[in-house]
Amino acid sequence: MGENISDYSQNIVDLRRHMWMDGVEVELRRLIWQIAVVGKYISAKIHESNRKLAGFKNIYGEEQLALDRVSDDILKSKLHHSGFVSHYASEELDDIVAIGNGKEKYIVTADPLDGSSLVDTNLAIGTIIGIHKNSIFDCGRNSMVAALYITYGPLITMIYSAGKGAHEFVLDREGEYVLSEENIRLKEKGSIFSPGGLRRDWTDAHLKFIDKLESDGYKLRYSGGFVPDINQVIIKRGGLFTYPALKKSPQGKLRLLFELQPMAFIVEQAGGRATDGKEDILSLKVASVNQRAPIYIGSAAEVAMAGEFLSQSL
Ligand code: F6P
Ligand code: MN
Repeated sequence: MGENISDYSQNIVDLRRHMWMDGVEVELRRLIWQIAVVGKYISAKIHESNRKLAGFKNIYGEEQLALDRVSDDILKSKLHHSGFVSHYASEELDDIVAIGNGKEKYIVTADPLDGSSLVDTNLAIGTIIGIHKNSIFDCGRNSMVAALYITYGPLITMIYSAGKGAHEFVLDREGEYVLSEENIRLKEKGSIFSPGGLRRDWTDAHLKFIDKLESDGYKLRYSGGFVPDINQVIIKRGGLFTYPALKKSPQGKLRLLFELQPMAFIVEQAGGRATDGKEDILSLKVASVNQRAPIYIGSAAEVAMAGEFLSQSL
């Protein structure tokens, strides 16, 4: 005998109920909920685009905006009307913008559609959100109160942390975000690695570190999308993602504010670590919205090992 509907609704823990049970402050939980709802709209736009990223046409032959711009517009407009957000900073905009009356508690950062160049290949893509208090021009450890990311894959999943662990939800067919993993904990050491950048551009120290992971039997897992690659490390309970300093770009590729800080916040809450090879990502002070940093993120043992290899090069 299967469960009947009333058993189902009694046992189910959805996102709102979880945040309430978790003691997340009321405005913050409303904000996180609204962002999760935006994930549903973005996913609808991904479907509508029929795997074309930019300059696609609708059925009437009208030009549509690029998918990343559309995602950004939906998010910005929803946050503007939320009443909880004073400023919004996004990878799609040149600078932080005021979207409230200045009295609201939160500042939101977004990578509205991470990995959007994978849309045509039908690989997973995502949305990354950081939620800050006071100012984003500080280190994440002082300013961040929550972070979340949504993965648009065969399923739509969402992981959030409001500073009390990291929790995963799956969007079900009724449109509810249902709790699937509470208090995710990474193991001390994993068995997969995800290295960004070209081998010929890596520093000698980074090359030696990656050689060591390979000779230790770590399996390669790199899709070219930050969200699915980090998600894999988190869901498999360990391993490492890195996009290192490159010879020609010592700050690497990924953005501190939009990509690295939110993921560092979540991974730390899951018992992992995130550094630039030396300092914790959440200890780096943000001086500009487009600041980049190298990243080593995942389970504690591999991140520590990266630090040892990089310090030997000095
Ligand atoms: O947002 C930047 C991004 O697309 C990430 O999602 C991804 O991890 C990385 O760049 C991929 O870079 P590359 O194409 O150099 O491997
Ligand atoms: Mn991105």
